[in-house]
This record gives sequence, C-alpha cells and structure tokens, in this order.
Amino acid sequence: MNIRPARVDDLMGMQACNLQNLPENYTMKYYLYHILTWPQLSYVAEDHKGRIVGYILAKMEEDVGEEDEAHGHVTSISVLRSYRRLGLAKKLMVQSQEAMATVYRAAYVSLHVRKSNRAALSLYRDTLGFTMKDVEKKYYADGEDAYAMRLSLKHLA
Ligand code: ACO
Repeated sequence: MNIRPARVDDLMGMQACNLQNLPENYTMKYYLYHILTWPQLSYVAEDHKGRIVGYILAKMEEDVGEEDEAHGHVTSISVLRSYRRLGLAKKLMVQSQEAMATVYRAAYVSLHVRKSNRAALSLYRDTLGFTMKDVEKKYYADGEDAYAMRLSLKHLA
C-alpha cells in the first residue's frame, strides 16, 4: 500500500471511495477546489495496481475570525472496508497534519465526526490525540449531532 499526495486524476477514485463509505458526499467541483487550492493537504492510499483504497480530503479554514489562528480542516477521510485496520487512516491523517503545519503554519487541525462513529472517534481521540471542542446539534442532514474536534499542531511547526 502506498500513500501519496492526491492529484487531479485521482478525484474520481476518491469520490467513488467516499460514496461507498460515507453519507456525506461532495460535488466534483468541491474536490477540485481542495486539490487546486491546497495541493499539499489531500492524500490517497493506493493498492499495488494503483487503485484508490483510501483518501483524506483536507483544506485550510478560510473563515478565520480575528481571534482565531490559522488552522487546517479535514473535510473527509475514509478507507475501503477490506483495507481497514491496517493503519492507513492514521498515516493519511499524519501526512496531512504535517503539511498543514509546515506549509501553511496551521496552529491546529479541526474536524467534525458523528457522535455514533465509534471507529473514527477512536482514531481521532485515542490514536491521534484530538480533543472534543464542542457538540454541534443536528449538524448532519439526518439530524445527528457532531463532535467538533481539534488537535494542536504547534509541535510540528
Ligand atoms: N473500532 C475501534 N477502533 C478503531 C476502529 C474500529 N473499527 N478503526 C480504527 N480504530 C482506531 C484504532 O485505535 C486503530 O488502531 P489499531 O488498529 O492499532 O487498534 C486506529 O484507529 C488506527 O486505525 P487505522 O487502521 O489507521 O484506521 P482505518 O484505516 O481502518 O480507517 C476509518 C478508519 C477512516 C474511520 C474507517 O473506519 C472508515 O473509512 N470508516 C468509514 C468512513 C468514516 O467514518 N470516515 C470518518 C468520517 S469523519 C470525517 O471524515 C472528518
């Protein structure tokens, strides 16, 4: 399994992976916006035949208030079912976090996750050290609450 920065020609594979794994889906225009604007922040995991088996789609937050610091945001991450528990999501997250800190001087990275998403919560909180910042009520289209989570990147800058 290989992890590398995502390219424009990976976007269909990333979108296909996202559609299989998550109910939160995005237009191709939004994928393209990420890759063209922050080309260092999104990564893919590919198998030995070059098929996309996982991805992280990430960006720098654009609406940063005066009080806030520059920070990255994970729009979406997923790994195809048969490739899970191999450490791919952790590697995708770490690669993106390093680029956020070194390329864009991000002070921290944020994300939203469903309250019921045990696997992702464990990845963020237990493996990577994210903490819960807030609960956003009915954040998702089906009415489920989100945990807004953060991880400081200051040690990487
Ligand atoms: N149950 C409990 N802990 C888990 C699980 C699980 N099913 N999956 C991962 N973890 C934790 C474990 O601590 C694991 O370490 P270990 O295997 O040594 O015990 C650690 O996370 C690292 O796991 P990885 O192997 O790196 O994670 P994986 O590649 O399997 O991907 C992911 C995890 C992305 C959550 C995957 O299960 C997935 O694609 N789920 C569906 C899509 C999804 O929920 N994406 C996140 C939505 S939130 C967002 O995108 C911001």
